[in-house]
Amino acid sequence: MIDKLVAQLKHARRVTVMTGAGVSAASGIPTFRGDGGLWRSFRAEELATPEAFERDPAFVWEWYEWRRAKIASCAPNAAHHVLAEWSRRSPHCTVITQNVDDLHVRAGTERLVRLHGSIWELSCWDRCGVAPWRDERVPLVDRPARCVGCGGIARPAVVWFGESLSAADMDAALRACACDLFIAAGTSAIVYPAAGLLQHAKACGAVTAEINIEPTPASGAVDLAIQGAAELVFPQLAAELPRLW
Ligand code: OAD
Repeated sequence: MIDKLVAQLKHARRVTVMTGAGVSAASGIPTFRGDGGLWRSFRAEELATPEAFERDPAFVWEWYEWRRAKIASCAPNAAHHVLAEWSRRSPHCTVITQNVDDLHVRAGTERLVRLHGSIWELSCWDRCGVAPWRDERVPLVDRPARCVGCGGIARPAVVWFGESLSAADMDAALRACACDLFIAAGTSAIVYPAAGLLQHAKACGAVTAEINIEPTPASGAVDLAIQGAAELVFPQLAAELPRLW
């Protein structure tokens, strides 16, 4: 399967890679589903919602503070570095991520589409009009964090369940689906609309591939399902393609 993917990569002019939490697992960041995916006894779906935040902002912030501290101690791994290198080499290679950890940013990825935002950005819960701002302090000074505009409560500027993705990010992601090869890596492929991008790319005529340590609902639908760890498979692909594009 890896050989087949190498052959596709050699011929593809436009390549899009969509990543999920599994790509950051080797950096030490727990995935949402599977072993270690729970925080205390809570699932992401119970914490990453406007309703949960409205009910108890301090509690939801506690989860985000825990994740921010964890992410701050982690570094990009080999998968992030290969993807960053590909994005620098070709304007036709696009990386779309569901991850909010910004490890693709730290690896130097160009033209990155961050579908779910960044855990390092905050916005006003009351939408006072102030633009989202970056705050990388760990821990944050105020608990819960305060809005820099109105002094009200601030929230993580990430997309929660039940909220819409930014139109600009979704547009960029849909445009990137018009490619020759679309690879979904380290994602359980169950959270929409991100999971739908794979189907959209296929409908647009792309060859589709998956890189995951275990089968997902997308495995049966992709052209090439590679069972393997992203931090091992991407360097293997890169080694086979020294003069990619
Ligand atoms: P999940 O936690 O749902 O899935 C992680 C996937 O990575 C699983 O399918 C694992 O098998 C796979 N995996 C783990 N380690 C891997 C490795 N080293 N190499 C390759 N694959 C590996 O994470 P996402 O699919 O990213 O959204 O979750 C999607 C969204 O659900 C997240 O962005 C987040 C979450 O709730 C929001 O918060 C809105």
